[in-house]
Amino acid sequence: MAEELRIRPNGDLAAALQGYLAEWSERCGIAVEIWALPAAPVSRRVAQAAYATLVEALSNVERHSRARQVSVAVTAGKAGLRMTVSDDGAGFAVDEVASGPGRGLAAMRARFAEAGGTLTINSVPGGGTTVTGVIRSR
Ligand SMILES: Nc1ncnc2c1ncn2[C@@H]1O[C@H](COP(=O)(O)OP(=O)(O)O)[C@@H](O)[C@H]1O
Ligand SMILES: [Mg+2]
Repeated sequence: MAEELRIRPNGDLAAALQGYLAEWSERCGIAVEIWALPAAPVSRRVAQAAYATLVEALSNVERHSRARQVSVAVTAGKAGLRMTVSDDGAGFAVDEVASGPGRGLAAMRARFAEAGGTLTINSVPGGGTTVTGVIRSR
């Protein structure tokens, strides 16, 4: 999770996400379906958490999922920010991996927790993986 988003406070998170998604899809050949990008400004801390989490979630899709497609929805408003990254790949047993050596899932959870939010990972072996993050504004 070394990637940092270099944008101004209230900079355009939507443009940064869109740019990253386009480059990533082009490079690894997995189709991206963008359902929503944030239309309202968010704090720098929230933007950083969302961007870093998208980068790690997509790195897992690329390295582990064998997915054909990934769907991404990020929305922001008065209530806060929500993001979902859902792939149609191999899935995995979350309970078994939770205690494994990987750092990415733990880092994504920690990043959302630091920003005052929560991150949930749902996966079904054979049925794909969905990462859902919520940060409520205070
Ligand atoms: N989108 C995904 N599809 C399939 N398996 C996944 C996905 N995301 C995570 N995993 C599984 O969870 C493990 C742990 O992920 P992570 O904590 O990011 O560590 P790492 O990517 O370094 O292995 C991965 O090794 C992989 O087995
Ligand atoms: Mg990883």
